[in-house]
Amino acid sequence: MSSQEAKLIFDGRTYRLPVIKGVRGERAIDIRTLRDDTGLITMDPGLANTGICRSSVTFVDGEKGILQYRGYPIETLAEHSTFVETAYLLLHGDLPTRDELSLFSRQLNESSLIHEDMRLFFRAFPNHAHPMGILSTMVASLSTFYPLPDVLDDVAEEQFIANLISQVRTIAAFSYKRAIGEPMVYPSCNLRYIENFLNMMFSSPVKDYKLDADIVRAVELILILHADHEQNCSAATVRMAGSSLSNIYSVISAGISALWGARHGGANMEVITMLEHIRASGGDGRDFVERAKKKGSNERLMGFGHRVYKSYDPRAKILKDACHKLLQKPGVSDPLFDIAVRLEDIAMHDDYFLERNLYPNLDFYSGLILKAIGIPYDMFTVLFAIGRVPGWLAQWREMVHGDNFKIARPRQIYCGADIRSYIPIAERK
Ligand code: SDX
Repeated sequence: MSSQEAKLIFDGRTYRLPVIKGVRGERAIDIRTLRDDTGLITMDPGLANTGICRSSVTFVDGEKGILQYRGYPIETLAEHSTFVETAYLLLHGDLPTRDELSLFSRQLNESSLIHEDMRLFFRAFPNHAHPMGILSTMVASLSTFYPLPDVLDDVAEEQFIANLISQVRTIAAFSYKRAIGEPMVYPSCNLRYIENFLNMMFSSPVKDYKLDADIVRAVELILILHADHEQNCSAATVRMAGSSLSNIYSVISAGISALWGARHGGANMEVITMLEHIRASGGDGRDFVERAKKKGSNERLMGFGHRVYKSYDPRAKILKDACHKLLQKPGVSDPLFDIAVRLEDIAMHDDYFLERNLYPNLDFYSGLILKAIGIPYDMFTVLFAIGRVPGWLAQWREMVHGDNFKIARPRQIYCGADIRSYIPIAERK
């Protein structure tokens, strides 16, 4: 990458800092020697202006609404690819050949069972346990049943990557069956990734589940669109946790925990709650939008706004069309979709949102598709996590195989008490 320079003038001295340039023109001031050279650190709570790595996995241009996985536009992957193929692309850097894809699919299928003793864990969770809490716990527990070898060669790495992508889906389906008191349905070697998930979720010994091609395609689309998104909160968490050389299962569990938050992956559930609330109020959502605009309001237009996209999230466009198409199916209509479309229209004509570049994001329409498919509301973020596992693994893999990566250890500006002497408890007031 070509480099220019930035000048910092401080305390009467001029410092030259290299500027590094990405292949798409984004530029960064390289501050790796800043503290040694100047004694200064930088301050950037939320890291909105801070690059934490060089990456070739995903490219996002928030101003132009561009998202590409390994150079492939999200629109073409959404139209032509499958989730397993997209996962391979993110992990290996190129689209697989036919043989590579069938080997990867077979690996995923062969890794789809979890140890039988892990099934006992589900009994230990309380009935009301949130599936994201179960998922993060069970994924971290995988490390006890599938301990990593001391020497992590390529074969071992490929195996636990397949384990995680496949077992996350099985754990999700098992947690749902446990929640509804039905027997767990095992993965089948005759079904593809998505079909297996839907079958494990919705079939039962007394009721065959008929796979519907439109539903399979809708889940495929959801998982493709959620597969990666450069240094989002949960991917940065995976890099942070992974930088201490922590066990990959616990690293992915950390990513799941970060994703759970309402500002991040938890927003898809919050959107449905918001739409249900507006429907119950009988209004058209205008008063809700007004409340969401109020300074200090704890109500936000969920599914709107994004740290990076200052334009329409390309994934939201794809999901809105897919949602509209799915809801045309007989018996699948949902009045919440009309409320969502109306809310979007209100916001897109309101200066408050336009001035702040607040547009629909990935979560605004995804929940409506999941709801139409019959995915229970509290599993929406679980589907997000299933989709995001390949992206987290691709980011982790890029970091651990990168040149001399360091443990992540940010600095701070201290604003606490000055030095004080210890006071024995008898003398404290
Ligand atoms: C995801 O990073 C990623 O890539 C994430 C993700 C991925 O694929 O991994 O894309 C997935 O997490 C999508 C985002 C899902 N979250 C939501 O939909 C929750 C609602 N959105 C907001 O909470 C918010 O927009 C964030 C968290 C997404 C972004 O927050 P920022 O960039 O920190 O922006 P901010 O909170 O500083 O807000 C800037 C202004 C503020 O107003 P002012 O102080 O300027 O008056 O915009 C306002 C905010 O009050 N604002 C909103 C709003 N989002 C921001 N006002 C009303 N409704 C909203 N949704």
